[in-house]
Amino acid sequence: MSAETMRAIRFERYGGPDVLELGRAPVPVPGRRDVLVEVRAAAVNPVDCKFRAGTHRAVIRKTLPVTPGMDLSGVVRAVGAGVTDFRVGDAVFASPHHRRMGAYAELALVAERELAHKPERLDHVEAASLPLAALTAWDALVRHGRVQPGERVLIQAGAGGVGSIAIQLAKHLGAEVSTTASAANHELVRSLGADLAIDHHRERYEVAARGSDLVIDSLGPQHWRRALECVRPGGRIVALTTGLPDAVARRGPWLGLALAAAEIVLFTLRARVTRGVRFVAMAREPNGATLAKIARLVDTGAIRPVLDSVLPLSEAAEAHRRVETGRSRGKVVLSCG
Ligand SMILES: NC(=O)c1ccc[n+]([C@@H]2O[C@H](COP(=O)([O-])OP(=O)(O)OC[C@H]3O[C@@H](n4cnc5c(N)ncnc54)[C@H](OP(=O)(O)O)[C@@H]3O)[C@@H](O)[C@H]2O)c1
Repeated sequence: MSAETMRAIRFERYGGPDVLELGRAPVPVPGRRDVLVEVRAAAVNPVDCKFRAGTHRAVIRKTLPVTPGMDLSGVVRAVGAGVTDFRVGDAVFASPHHRRMGAYAELALVAERELAHKPERLDHVEAASLPLAALTAWDALVRHGRVQPGERVLIQAGAGGVGSIAIQLAKHLGAEVSTTASAANHELVRSLGADLAIDHHRERYEVAARGSDLVIDSLGPQHWRRALECVRPGGRIVALTTGLPDAVARRGPWLGLALAAAEIVLFTLRARVTRGVRFVAMAREPNGATLAKIARLVDTGAIRPVLDSVLPLSEAAEAHRRVETGRSRGKVVLSCG
């Protein structure tokens, strides 16, 4: 770290949104294959809230104080000596690895391999809303879900940050898409391409979408059994959310982590043995090459961002409160310009 400082949101203890404070942090210095980005906008993800609350501290090891943020769009300020694909002044976007979280700041470091050029048709706020959600949607549908044209896919929480992108990507890949959303969000999810919108307050999705080839579950272990009812024998379930926050709240960070891991192993076996279903609990891979493919899909009009709200960086605590309602439509973004 250099002696120079920058504006940054930080927290010095785990807790509620009020632990987030605007202060000053050392400007990070790029290593050989790193890029220093002037952050113009940073999106807020549920994982930022979970980490701030302390539920992921056994998985994401950090020394406090921490600047959160795993989604950014901005302009390259400096590059390490070994960087070949980016130059000072390039407009870029990325979802940095959790070891490099820190996007709620004036400047952030990103490994070159995790960075991509920003889609041309988007401004920085729109671009910042995409990387983590779109990489997650890609990994769920393509890398783990191996979705094929004509397959039936159920995407949970279609109005959310991940769901709103996953619907569009699944349609682009030729799938038939069912999704769950409150009735007030049905128009939105249909406009994104969903063939069937299921009101999760009134209907049982495991009935409405029975026989799906693939279920993308973002709701957690209490929904896995229902996903297993919903998917056809021999199908696939990709889970984005584990029982870690609940287990940590009940049993503390270490035993909670062990219990959440055991739950995944047991359910994987159960799905395989009882229905021949492949169950995968995944974490998105920060990957610049995949992000570049996503940028092309944005520039050809196959994927568009969905913004819930835009707040200034100083209102990070309010942005976390909004995300923690569990009712945001698309992404909440912090404007850092
Ligand atoms: N494994 C990974 O790499 C990874 C990556 C990204 C996210 N995640 C996890 O995936 C989950 C979703 O992330 P996100 O960013 O999409 O969250 P989000 O944007 O906060 O999701 C909000 C949406 O969830 C919907 N929702 C809430 N309860 C629902 C229910 N019971 N049934 C259906 N929809 C419901 C709401 O829609 P309605 O108002 O219409 O109900 C709302 O639009 C989070 O737990 C997140 O941590 C994991």
